[in-house]
Amino acid sequence: MKPVYCEDGELKLIDQTKLPTELIIRSYTDHREIAKAIVDMIVRGAPAIGVTAGYGVYFGALEYIDEPKAIFYDKMKEVCALLAATRPTAVNLFWAIRRMEKVLADNQDKTCSQIIELLREEADDICAEDIKMCKDMGKHGAELIHAGDTILTHCNAGALATADYGTALGVIRAAHEAGKNISVYADETRPFLQGARLTAYELQADGIPVTLITDNMAGWMMKQGKIDGVIVGADRIASNGDVANKIGTYSVSVLAKAHGIPMYVAAPTSTIDFSIKSGDEIVIEERDCREISHICGIQIAPDGVAMENPAFDVTPHQNVTAIITEKGVVYPPFDINIPKLSGEK
Ligand code: MRU
Repeated sequence: MKPVYCEDGELKLIDQTKLPTELIIRSYTDHREIAKAIVDMIVRGAPAIGVTAGYGVYFGALEYIDEPKAIFYDKMKEVCALLAATRPTAVNLFWAIRRMEKVLADNQDKTCSQIIELLREEADDICAEDIKMCKDMGKHGAELIHAGDTILTHCNAGALATADYGTALGVIRAAHEAGKNISVYADETRPFLQGARLTAYELQADGIPVTLITDNMAGWMMKQGKIDGVIVGADRIASNGDVANKIGTYSVSVLAKAHGIPMYVAAPTSTIDFSIKSGDEIVIEERDCREISHICGIQIAPDGVAMENPAFDVTPHQNVTAIITEKGVVYPPFDINIPKLSGEK
């Protein structure tokens, strides 16, 4: 299930706002519309928006192919800035744009069409590397899962949130493929319902046993001994192991700790922000409160009521048992072990 790919000169995105009832693939060539698709969460999930932004830079460059070099470079600054302003929390977005900017910076002596060819190669590499990282994470993470385990996950860190296969769901997939006979509880993930709409859909499509629960049921399931481990994805991980992920992840981590249940985070190293010391430095996206006051277009709250809608929270590193990356499983002390991943092949 590839949520983002290039075909016939167009960027294709599965419209994730329509799942699970409609599978619609939208086509894009205009980088402004690609940026809007990220803002509107047609495409979402940290690695997937990174891949999309990479292609966004490429399509932006195509638009200015006939401009003189100086104007081309000025326009590319605008393209990159527009894409970078879409969503503030997931660091993969900025990581991918930086990679594209480096191609631009390193090839100023070439023609615009040569540069554009290199941008396309870089965007394809970002996409292909993401799938490989997910598969590697799956291999490492599956070793932490025991036969017969029931895993709780929050939000959607699946194929739909990456170029394919998934981070947290990649680990779950790999354990399932290894015949471990596992099952999954999926939190519905208010307010945007990524768990109900996307995780339940993805796991069901793959024949992985999944039970959907509302977010406020997770503690009670743990209390009854129905959950053996938690695996979630991440939008940004600080050097000390603090993890920004979908709102509600922090609550799940507190519950897991209270019940002595391991809390694993699966994320590629492109999700680690080595430049920040702790989660205090992570900008948390605030989204339109209509996501709270309305469900599927139906109003459920009184007009004029005060609301807040932080889209992410930060789980303190003390609540994280281990972080599963494509390079291996990282354990505490995270402030020592995470920086070791920087620059490592
Ligand atoms: O707001 P979203 O749907 O983009 O948030 C997604 C998440 O929080 C995921 O858990 C995270 O990006 C990891 S995806 C592999």
